Amino acid sequence: SSAPQVIAMDGPAASGKSSVAREVAAKLGWIYVNTGNMYRAATWAVVESGTNPEDEAAVLAVVQGTDFQCTVEGGRSVIRVNGADVELQLNSESVNRGVSYVAKIPQVREILVAMQRDVGHTHPSVMEGRDIGTVVFPDALVKFYIDASEEVRAKRRGLQGHADSVGERDRIDSTRKVAPLTAAADAVVVDSSEMTLAQVVARIMELLHERGVTAAA
Ligand code: CDP
Ligand code: CDP
Ligand code: CDP
Repeated sequence: SSAPQVIAMDGPAASGKSSVAREVAAKLGWIYVNTGNMYRAATWAVVESGTNPEDEAAVLAVVQGTDFQCTVEGGRSVIRVNGADVELQLNSESVNRGVSYVAKIPQVREILVAMQRDVGHTHPSVMEGRDIGTVVFPDALVKFYIDASEEVRAKRRGLQGHADSVGERDRIDSTRKVAPLTAAADAVVVDSSEMTLAQVVARIMELLHERGVTAAA
C-alpha cells in the first residue's frame, strides 16, 4: 500500500511551521492541519472550566467530558469545542502557559491523535505539530523539521503580540515521556533562522518537487 498523502511539518514553537504549512498546502491544493490548535483547544476548555492545567487528573476529567470535533472547511481543519469555534481564543497567554502540561498527558494525546489520523487518512494534508513525523504518521509521504534558534523564535513570537515563553514550552515538549518533540530520523531539517518565510516556502516546494509531490492525487 502507498504512503498516506500527508506531509509532516514538525518543529519547536514559533519556528514558522504554521505559516509555512499554510502556504505549502495552498500551493498544493492540500488541506492545512494545525494540530497545535487541537492541544490549544483542549487547554482552552481546561482554563475555561477553572481547572489548573498542571492538575493532571482534573485536566483529564475535563477533556474526557468535552466534545471535540474536527472538520475540514475552506481548505483547512477546524476544531470545535462543544460545538463552538474557539479558534480566536487559542493564542491567549493562559493557553500558551498551560498547553504543554495538557499535551504531555498520554490519554489527551490519544484522543487528539485519533482525530489527526482521521483527517490525514481522508484528505491530502500538510500537517504541522511536534510528533507528526514520529508518531502520528510515521509513514508520511515527506517529513520536514522546521527549526530556528531560540533567540530568533522568541523574537518572532514577540512580534506577534502575545506573551509566550517558547523556551519553557520547548523544554517541556522535548522532555515528556510520550511523543516528545524531536526530528524523525528521515525528516529533512530546515533551519530557518536566517531565512524569510518566502525562502522557506520556496525551499520546501523545491524539495517536494524533487520527490515528485505536486498536487492532490
Ligand atoms: O504555534 P506554536 O508553535 O507556538 O505552538 P502550537 O503548534 O500551537 O502547539 C502548542 C503546544 O501544543 C505545543 O507547545 C505542544 O505542547 C503541543 N503540541 C503537541 O504536543 N503535539 C503536537 N502535534 C502539536 C502541539
Ligand atoms: O507555527 P509556528 O509557531 O512554528 O510559527 P508561525 O506562527 O508560523 O510563525 C511565527 C512568526 O514568525 C510569524 O509571524 C511568521 O510570519 C514569522 N516567520 C518569520 O518571520 N520568518 C520565517 N522564516 C518564518 C516565520
Ligand atoms: O501559528 P498559528 O497558526 O497558531 O497562529 P497564526 O495564524 O500564525 O497567528 C495568528 C495571530 O495570533 C498572530 O498574528 C499573533 O498575533 C497571534 N499568535 C500569538 O500571539 N501567539 C501564538 N502562539 C500564535 C499566534
